[in-house]
Amino acid sequence: MPRRIQLCAFTIAFVLFAATRSYAAASAPETSAVGVHGMVVSESADAARAGVEILKQGGNAVDAAVATALAVGVTNPASCGIGGGGFMLIYMAKAHAFYALDYRETAPLQARPDMYLRNGKPDEDLARDGILGVGVPGEIAGIDAALRRFGTMKFQQIAAPAEKLAGDGYTASPHLAKEIAMLAPKIKNDPGLSQVFLKPDGSAPNTGDTIVAKNLAATLKSLGDDPVTNFYHGEVARALVEFTKTHGGLISSADLAEYRPDWRNPIRHRYEGYEVYAMPPPSSGGIVLEMLGALDSGHLAGLGVNSPPYLARLIEVMRQGFIDRERYADPAFVGVDIEKLLNDANIQQLRERALHPKTSPAPAAAAHDHGTSNLLVVDKDGNVVALTTTINTVFGAKMSVPALGVILNDEMDDFAVAPGVPNAYRLEGERANEVRAGKRPLSSMTPIIVTRNGVPVLTTGGSGGPTIVSGVLQVALNILAFHLDATAAVAEPRIHEQAAPDVVIVEQKMPTPTRSALEQMDYKLKVVPELGAVGAITIAPANLRGAADPRKGGGAVGY
Ligand code: DON
Repeated sequence: MPRRIQLCAFTIAFVLFAATRSYAAASAPETSAVGVHGMVVSESADAARAGVEILKQGGNAVDAAVATALAVGVTNPASCGIGGGGFMLIYMAKAHAFYALDYRETAPLQARPDMYLRNGKPDEDLARDGILGVGVPGEIAGIDAALRRFGTMKFQQIAAPAEKLAGDGYTASPHLAKEIAMLAPKIKNDPGLSQVFLKPDGSAPNTGDTIVAKNLAATLKSLGDDPVTNFYHGEVARALVEFTKTHGGLISSADLAEYRPDWRNPIRHRYEGYEVYAMPPPSSGGIVLEMLGALDSGHLAGLGVNSPPYLARLIEVMRQGFIDRERYADPAFVGVDIEKLLNDANIQQLRERALHPKTSPAPAAAAHDHGTSNLLVVDKDGNVVALTTTINTVFGAKMSVPALGVILNDEMDDFAVAPGVPNAYRLEGERANEVRAGKRPLSSMTPIIVTRNGVPVLTTGGSGGPTIVSGVLQVALNILAFHLDATAAVAEPRIHEQAAPDVVIVEQKMPTPTRSALEQMDYKLKVVPELGAVGAITIAPANLRGAADPRKGGGAVGY
């Protein structure tokens, strides 16, 4: 039977099926919360508490977001930290305005498109593990820029919770303990990582063990209230450059001195009466908007959440979105025509293509990884921050500067190591995204804020490489199209499709009949325990409902 006709048959069967399903939330209480005045959702409960502490001290959403980012950089050190970079999408209620801050890492000035070729062959490991994978960190410059423009507090006040967590110690979450155990052999090889993350006998800590990072606490303290001067021009810069030189890396004092975060124009598109705001390139925000646009007026509610006909529609939209993503890159180097991507004709074409199956070769396993961290903040004045920060893969370049406690990112792996060569997330490299000195690599990180009648009603974002794009899309649709609350929306099983490899990744808790139905439609499925983590906050007057993703743990804290 042709796939389109099958879709119709399954539509009828599964509308009935969906109507009988229960979507009750099954997450631990700490990952869900309600709030009256403000809320922080983070992939670390300690960091969410740090953010709320700042809100209670009178800080606004920007103060709390950067405090949470610094704290999660301590407690989720495998995912993010001041050796990385990120994106911050900000809504300031008084001005009714959105701002997009890009403080992603950049390629060092000595970087070259062929730097990962050895004897004419691409060696992708060079971009992933070790000093050549490191991009110039943007985290501190981004935090400082946001704080100076919209914050109300000084750096040391917002850094205090992170300094305390690092200096006094924090308990290893199940997720962190698992990641340390998984990477123990690589951690052992790096003196900076092993001195903090392994026990004196060389074994990995257990869940609940205390981890202390005195060196990181001291570094944060040493940044004072002028963190950019100290990090990019002062003692920290000197230590970073010396470490890089000793290990044969490229980052120089000029790279650090010249690093600047970029305030960019947020992009937006409508979905069913909502206006969705996202980060522009080099984020993949435009892809989420394109996919949502293609599903606009799609009567999804009638199909039923996670019904096979809905998932088939999603798969086709995701596939085309990821094909379009190949044209994306740093806009300072490559023209990315977002207006064309989001114009009505393009979206209409995508909508129609999404109803047709496609064939493409090469099924393969897609990589799963757990670096990166998303956090969301809403304050009492209605300001909203959606922030995603990363050191790329787990423990980044697998190197920490012992004198600083700063874990170095491996963000260079987000560039195309060579055309057609897949990176850690099996995303294939395209020329647009090739390495250039001073360029920022393409990113899947895509925090979004959704408004109705000009007022934010939802913010969401996630971690998990390319599954961020598909995860944010599905959680947003679970709330906007299927009217689930934040906890249920985040808990629903998800799928991921990224065009190549030609395989739909499905979480194992997706019901078996649904999986069988997709297989009968000729989709090749790869079942995985779980995909990336997505958090969400729904926003109504005095009624904030937030959920961190139980897949990774973390916390939602309201007050
Ligand atoms: O910016 C990106 O797309 C990647 N560096 C994100 C990496 C990531 O999410 C790791 N996984 N959880």
